[in-house]
Amino acid sequence: MCGIVGAIADRDVVPVLVEGLKRLEYRGYDSSGIAIADAAGVRRVRRTGRVAEMEQAAAAEGFRGTLGIGHTRWATHGGVTEANAHPHISHGDLALVHNGIIENHEQQRERLRALGYAFESQTDTEVIAHLIHHHMVQGQAPGTDPGRRLLAALQAAVKELTGAYALAVLSRAAPDRLVCARMGCPLLVGLGEGENFVASDVSAIVQATRRVVFLEEGDTAEIRREGVRVFDAGDREVRREVHVSDVSLASLELGPYRHFMQKEIHEQPRAIADTLEAAIDVGGFEAELFGARAGEVLRGVTGVQILACGTSYYAGLTARYWIEAIAGLPCSVEIASEYRYRDAYADPDHLIVTISQSGETLDTMEALKYAKSLGHRHTLSICNVPESAIPRASGLVCYTRAGAEIGVASTKAFTTQLAALFQLTVVLGKLQGRVAPEREAGYLEQLRRLPGSVQHALNLEPQIAAWAERFAGKHNALFLGRGLHYPIALEGALKLKEISYIHAEAYPAGELKHGPLALVDAAMPVVVIAPNDRLLEKVKSNMQEVRARGGELFVFADQDSNFTQSEGVHVIRTPRHAGVLSPVIHTIPVQLLAYHTALARGTDVDKPRNLAKSVTVE
Ligand code: AGP
Repeated sequence: MCGIVGAIADRDVVPVLVEGLKRLEYRGYDSSGIAIADAAGVRRVRRTGRVAEMEQAAAAEGFRGTLGIGHTRWATHGGVTEANAHPHISHGDLALVHNGIIENHEQQRERLRALGYAFESQTDTEVIAHLIHHHMVQGQAPGTDPGRRLLAALQAAVKELTGAYALAVLSRAAPDRLVCARMGCPLLVGLGEGENFVASDVSAIVQATRRVVFLEEGDTAEIRREGVRVFDAGDREVRREVHVSDVSLASLELGPYRHFMQKEIHEQPRAIADTLEAAIDVGGFEAELFGARAGEVLRGVTGVQILACGTSYYAGLTARYWIEAIAGLPCSVEIASEYRYRDAYADPDHLIVTISQSGETLDTMEALKYAKSLGHRHTLSICNVPESAIPRASGLVCYTRAGAEIGVASTKAFTTQLAALFQLTVVLGKLQGRVAPEREAGYLEQLRRLPGSVQHALNLEPQIAAWAERFAGKHNALFLGRGLHYPIALEGALKLKEISYIHAEAYPAGELKHGPLALVDAAMPVVVIAPNDRLLEKVKSNMQEVRARGGELFVFADQDSNFTQSEGVHVIRTPRHAGVLSPVIHTIPVQLLAYHTALARGTDVDKPRNLAKSVTVE
């Protein structure tokens, strides 16, 4: 869960590395560093804290170079110290950056210690630097080209590692190249004109090039100014397809917004419309939205098992209500990190659906592999990042078109996941013979109206910001919802705790009296999602239970929910009830409430403490 970038060019690459690291900060932001190499040696600068601090230090030291690597860290092995920050150096000769976790680092450390290597950090990464150095020295036959030795040493070293890694390495002995390797963590090579790059994702290098090669599992590569060579896990040279990325620079910049989270909340009408574009264009819900073979696969499905983490899991919980009610198929939803370690029941005809914004969440990836090992034949991934690991490992794919999501707290990824899952539901419903053309046309019409309704919900921002002022001083909050809106209560509580650090819990409103009601007093704000659906009267009774204990209610109702404000009962009305798509609309106010509360508390909204955007560790 770190970000890496590397470059070789005729120009000074330090600004490219620094800009790349700033774009990769979403992957980890507790320390950062860069190293440059030339025939005179390897130099590095590292700092704890944000990339901007390291940038200042690099400028103060007059850092310049035409070959360099950089890293932004989310600590796993070893605390947040400069000594643990990357790049790690072996014998002053070789520098390396790493994303991932090396599982056999302790055995390798013992072995390298016995060979005379001294360790300066507590990281698993330093082991790799010394191991490559060791192989480099071993391969030192007279006349052997040091460049070739560097690649061969990397290829030999990775065969002795177990775990996950994306690596970029440079050496004083071979100042005309970078070498890199990928296993279990994303890595791509960027192809420029007389300059080439390596990075964890395209956003890091998009200012220099859009032409990229996604390395595959087990690949290594040698990157020189004049060209790039890629080798497979058996060290055979291979050709990998060149992709032209459509990530735009504007999508990576803040524009008029204060935070990426705010920008991403406001992008939702566009993101949802883009995700729905294909269905709206063809005027219906065709299985092919999920891939060429999807009709054949989905027709035989007799149930759905959804696997995901965090916010993506809540999207899955919402989909369960849709899939069982509309498609008439049994649907289970499970947190991926739990599923992967239990003896789960597997029906081969149940479709495995993984949901992941990043496409690289380790728990979700491992749950997918486990499901396949249990005999599940059909897999479908809903993902926001093209070419990422989870969709690549899945039979069918639906890419949400949210665009780059940079704020650690997921917003537009969630609502676009809901849009994709609703489409999947209707496709399954049609294949099950439960959605007739008239009903399909009705759903399509509701989807057409969805971006507009989301925009109306966004217009409530000033009222929600006023509520947030009252929340800012609280220590705890409860979120209540029922039915389709219970997952939205969960998502609201997660958003609030992630970015404002206020302790928040969500319950199905009917469950309150079975325990959590004991928490309610005048200091406890209770957020209620109360749309005008068939459970509204039940929710109103649950609200009475809260009011009777002095709890203060903050109610998100629909225009037609028939609520009145009163002492201790605050009401904000979202647009007219949106039927089955109501959870999408009701997500907007809880996102805005979390955002404005965090703003009022002065937290680091886009980079909350202890978290990172892509969770590629257990
Ligand atoms: C959401 O706000 C979180 N940051 C987190 O729960 C996230 O949804 C989770 O880690 C799953 O990520 P993914 O969608 O990239 O797999």
